[in-house]
Amino acid sequence: MYKQQFLVCLFSVVLLSSLAALVAAQGSRNNTSRWQTLKGDPPLVIARGGFSGMFPDSGQYAYQLAVSIGLPNVVVWCDVQLTKDGSGICFPDLRLENGSNIDDIFKNGSNAYPVNGVPMRGWFSVDFTFNDLEPVNLKQRIYSRAPNFDGTPQQILGVEDVVGLVKPPSLWLNVQHDAFFSQHNLSMRTFIISLSRRVIVNYISSPEVNFLRSIIARFRTSRTKLIFQFLAPDEVEPLTNQTYDSLLRNLTFIKTFASGILVPKYYIWPVDNSLYLQPHTSVVSDAHKAGLEVFASDFLNDDAHLPYNYSYDPVAEYLSYIDNRDFSVDGVLSDFPITPSEAIDCFSHVGKNGKEQVNLSVISFEGASGDYPGCTDRAYSKAISDGVDVLDCPVQMTNDGIAFCLGSINLRERTNVDETDFSNLATSNPDLNFDSGIYTYNLTWSQIHSTLRPAIYNPYANFSLYRNPIARNDGNFMQLSDFLDFARNASSVSGVLISIENAGYLAEKQGLGVTDAVLDALSKTGYNNQTAKNIMVKSSDSAVLRKFKSRSNYELVYLVKEDIRDITNSTISEIKKFASSVVITKESVFPLDKAFLTTQTDVVPKLQAFGLHVYVQLFRNEFVSQPWDFFSDPYVEINTHVSFMEINGVITDFPATAVKYKRNRCLGYKEVPLYMSPVLPGSLISLMAPQFLPPAEAPNPILSENDVVEPPLPAVVEKPPTTDTGNSSTAPGPAPRNGQPTIVASMILSCVAVLATLLLC
Ligand SMILES: *[C@@H]1O[C@H](CO)[C@@H](O)[C@H](O)[C@H]1NC(C)=O
Ligand SMILES: *[C@@H]1O[C@H](CO)[C@@H](O)[C@H](O)[C@H]1NC(C)=O
Ligand SMILES: *[C@@H]1O[C@H](CO)[C@@H](O)[C@H](O)[C@H]1NC(C)=O
Ligand SMILES: *[C@@H]1O[C@H](CO)[C@@H](O)[C@H](O)[C@H]1NC(C)=O
Ligand SMILES: *[C@@H]1O[C@H](CO)[C@@H](O)[C@H](O)[C@H]1NC(C)=O
Ligand SMILES: *[C@@H]1O[C@H](CO)[C@@H](O)[C@H](O)[C@H]1NC(C)=O
Ligand SMILES: *[C@@H]1O[C@H](CO)[C@@H](O)[C@H](O)[C@H]1NC(C)=O
Ligand SMILES: *[C@@H]1O[C@H](CO)[C@@H](O)[C@H](O)[C@H]1NC(C)=O
Ligand SMILES: *[C@@H]1O[C@H](CO)[C@@H](O)[C@H](O)[C@H]1NC(C)=O
Ligand SMILES: *[C@@H]1O[C@H](CO)[C@@H](O)[C@H](O)[C@H]1NC(C)=O
Ligand SMILES: *[C@@H]1O[C@H](CO)[C@@H](O)[C@H](O)[C@H]1NC(C)=O
Ligand SMILES: *[C@@H]1O[C@H](CO)[C@@H](O)[C@H](O)[C@H]1NC(C)=O
Repeated sequence: MYKQQFLVCLFSVVLLSSLAALVAAQGSRNNTSRWQTLKGDPPLVIARGGFSGMFPDSGQYAYQLAVSIGLPNVVVWCDVQLTKDGSGICFPDLRLENGSNIDDIFKNGSNAYPVNGVPMRGWFSVDFTFNDLEPVNLKQRIYSRAPNFDGTPQQILGVEDVVGLVKPPSLWLNVQHDAFFSQHNLSMRTFIISLSRRVIVNYISSPEVNFLRSIIARFRTSRTKLIFQFLAPDEVEPLTNQTYDSLLRNLTFIKTFASGILVPKYYIWPVDNSLYLQPHTSVVSDAHKAGLEVFASDFLNDDAHLPYNYSYDPVAEYLSYIDNRDFSVDGVLSDFPITPSEAIDCFSHVGKNGKEQVNLSVISFEGASGDYPGCTDRAYSKAISDGVDVLDCPVQMTNDGIAFCLGSINLRERTNVDETDFSNLATSNPDLNFDSGIYTYNLTWSQIHSTLRPAIYNPYANFSLYRNPIARNDGNFMQLSDFLDFARNASSVSGVLISIENAGYLAEKQGLGVTDAVLDALSKTGYNNQTAKNIMVKSSDSAVLRKFKSRSNYELVYLVKEDIRDITNSTISEIKKFASSVVITKESVFPLDKAFLTTQTDVVPKLQAFGLHVYVQLFRNEFVSQPWDFFSDPYVEINTHVSFMEINGVITDFPATAVKYKRNRCLGYKEVPLYMSPVLPGSLISLMAPQFLPPAEAPNPILSENDVVEPPLPAVVEKPPTTDTGNSSTAPGPAPRNGQPTIVASMILSCVAVLATLLLC
């Protein structure tokens, strides 16, 4: 009874890897570490509704993607619902309007029924025959996920359709509502038992004791495992009239009808009200002692409520369940099966000293500014303990000529200046493109140092994604010379990256010489006499780099702030005159259309053909920072840039993630598995129905020589006397400089805006 339609084997061909590596030969690998699972086997990846984080839940695409991209033994999860004629379908909700367009197709089809005693209205599967459902199309039900595949035809699948279409290595049936179907005179037991005669069912789970007991006799001697699912602790199990919480203390009872339990992940790692993890419970070891396997549910890469301890790194979360000192769960239930597959095969049991598998410079962005206020001693210490290669300092100048590290010339963007007496100093500065700023050059070092606190930068506050709130004002500002001393003493750090912006403005309008201050600090801290640390100087202003040109031992790094689609050979030749490395944006590597990758550019290979190193910015862990194609997985994003484009370095405010990436075991395999293969740009767009395509955007510009050539830096003028007349904005601005507009902030914003549009419509 296949309702087969639109059956193309898309994923192995189109979607995944340019390498098209086949997932094979994995069985031959030997395990070098022991798993603390019940039986010592590696934990399982269970794909909830397939790869439901990307495609409509329980549809053909989601299931096919999960099977092709996950571990070879990935388990496919199907929420079984029964139709009026007793057929079993895979659908995530009792109410079919939550995940399909049934409410459009059968406008009158809704009904009200009690479900576990609670009245509910909706389009229930019990009111439709299997054939009735034929015209119904699946759609995305989580509003923060891409709705662009809703027009791609995908029917509701029968359980056997799923088995026939995707040939899952292992099948897990979840029966959430046996009691409801019984009230409608439909027998889940009959369906499951009859199905199990035709297909291999590996796991059957249910939160209802009565249902599991009703089938245990049939499966006692089979390989099918029965799993008891725990709902929220205060919910009541219908048969025993006990809360799930109290059943958790009665594991010997559960063992009488189940061989494992499925618990929401917070049963194992509880979270406090401020979204920080508490110590883990003893659920896993208790259950293991009782001989029960433990599966944990509710893993999502696009979880806006991920505990802060994980720094928005989904792999870090999985590892805390499978690779901690005390236990490993026996499986994880995920909407994004690629990520637990990597976590298990590539990242588990890899120590901090694991072998580096790729040659990639990890360059911090304001230190580990994803975890602590940027450019503070805390952020730098964290970056060092994370294993960063290059520590960065964006240099700003104080009114009294002190060079120090801060992510913005505008104190409002990185400090709590608005909460201090200096808040009334806000002015507009068209030269620097700020409507209302309080500038570092306007305060003295002692004012900044003793009055202001650093403030963590929250680029995705609009999405309510905040960074480590308890540390939001932690740490101390650092002068450039302190930073240099600090970096020199960190033996694992191979270099420092000093960023210089606004040098012309500061020289001409504020009488402050940044380049001289930098040279001075480097010399005073002994950097000119050493060879242990690479000294990198970065600027988007070629005139700044030319000033350092005579220092042959410095690596001069040219920043191309703009997203570009190409670069001419003559432009590259020009860049070669003053730089040996280039920083470009991610979108200059993989252009985007509404956060979907459209293609790849030749910018990286072209620059490298001229002997330039290419570093790419900005890699972040928050899922909203990543194009959809990377599956909300920061490792897939980094890996695609590294394995596909062979970039030389990443600039990131989460260095721990990039460092962990470098040590991942899978890159060393003879055949790299698909879950550690780059994605193919443009493949997702190719799966969209025409009316669901993102509107094409104007192409990015080509970087030309004109954009790169700058007049020499102006001389540092004598410092204007500090008077209180406040009429500085009437002075003529500096001569217009060529080239790149200051668009870093707006670039990030427009990326956010794109995602916001998608999230909201
Ligand atoms: C496991 O792999 C290691 C390294 O690849 C190899 O040296 C060792 O002999 C293997 N052990 C077994 C039992 O195959
Ligand atoms: C693989 O893991 C199993 C279970 O922990 C263990 O019994 C076996 O000895 C391991 N094999 C190797 C080669 O380490
Ligand atoms: C659909 O299901 C999701 C996930 O369970 C839930 O968050 C959402 O509220 C449901 N929507 C409706 C309309 O029932
Ligand atoms: C829906 O119900 C209305 C009135 O109850 C009826 O006129 C209409 O034909 C029905 N539509 C469908 C599609 O059954
Ligand atoms: C179920 O069957 C019983 C007995 O045959 C009948 O009384 C009841 O109305 C049926 N319920 C439903 C929802 O069809
Ligand atoms: C365990 O649960 C069963 C079923 O509800 C109950 O009969 C039994 O008394 C419970 N045992 C304990 C120790 O709570
Ligand atoms: C279930 O337990 C609650 C209190 O624990 C009790 O009030 C209620 O009557 C019980 N219900 C049934 C059906 O036994
Ligand atoms: C999570 O982070 C908080 C705050 O830093 C810390 O107090 C807590 O111990 C951490 N939890 C775990 C399990 O590490
Ligand atoms: C790594 O790449 C850098 C350039 O980015 C190069 O200088 C270095 O030699 C490479 N090291 C290895 C081991 O390939
Ligand atoms: C800071 O700016 C304000 C307003 O523009 C001005 O009045 C004040 O003199 C400046 N302070 C210094 C130290 O430059
Ligand atoms: C660096 O070397 C120069 C001479 O090459 C020497 O005069 C100076 O003292 C050295 N500075 C430090 C900090 O070692
Ligand atoms: C640009 O330079 C590359 C590498 O040197 C060369 O292969 C290519 O032909 C050049 N393109 C043009 C248009 O000159």
